[in-house]
Amino acid sequence: MNPNITKHQFSIQKIERSRQKKQTSCVIWLTGYSGAGKSTLANGIDEFLFKNGNHSYVLDGDNVRKGLNSDLGFSDDDRKENIRRVGEVSKLFMDAGLIVIAAFISPYREDRDQVRNIIEPDKFIEIFVDTPIEECERRDTKGLYKKARKGEISNFPGISSEFETPMNAEITVQTENQSITQSVDFIIKELRNLIAMNTSKND
Ligand code: ADX
Repeated sequence: MNPNITKHQFSIQKIERSRQKKQTSCVIWLTGYSGAGKSTLANGIDEFLFKNGNHSYVLDGDNVRKGLNSDLGFSDDDRKENIRRVGEVSKLFMDAGLIVIAAFISPYREDRDQVRNIIEPDKFIEIFVDTPIEECERRDTKGLYKKARKGEISNFPGISSEFETPMNAEITVQTENQSITQSVDFIIKELRNLIAMNTSKND
């Protein structure tokens, strides 16, 4: 840490900002294979929260990599940096009183745990989108599994690099045998036990 940099304390803090929004700011982190349904579920959660009167925002792997993280690829180091930056951005958004919904493959346990520690641990809600690799490859919505099998892209989780299954995810959701709506409803039901999302409650 640079000794010439001093943190400035601004008068309006997270507690005031989240109280104004009548919600608990937190990070809802979706992890899982490419094609597991993370972005789709993030969208469903965001729609629900918006209609519920909450203030939320989605950070999505593909979108963030088009802007802030456009300098990063898919090596272990770049993935680590991708997740670290998103963790820091999530912390800022949380400070602004928002509910952050982050959808990233985030294949490594250590990187996800690092974000949990950047955020207050009990405000980090890890959701494992538990879609088996065989189903993700069958869906192959972006044609990336085909490319990974042909060796046209490297470091692809589940094919040519590892995906470390979460050990202590707060929520595990299946997508294989239920509709998107059913998966979103399940997540919302579980979230209600973990955070105050009812707009009449406070932090
Ligand atoms: S992460 O591992 O760093 O968390 P992230 O979620 O940002 O991955 O990946 C964003 C998108 O990049 C994925 O949804 C997928 O479309 C694509 N992608 C993932 N891995 C690779 C890879 N090895 N090569 C090319 N594209 C990839």
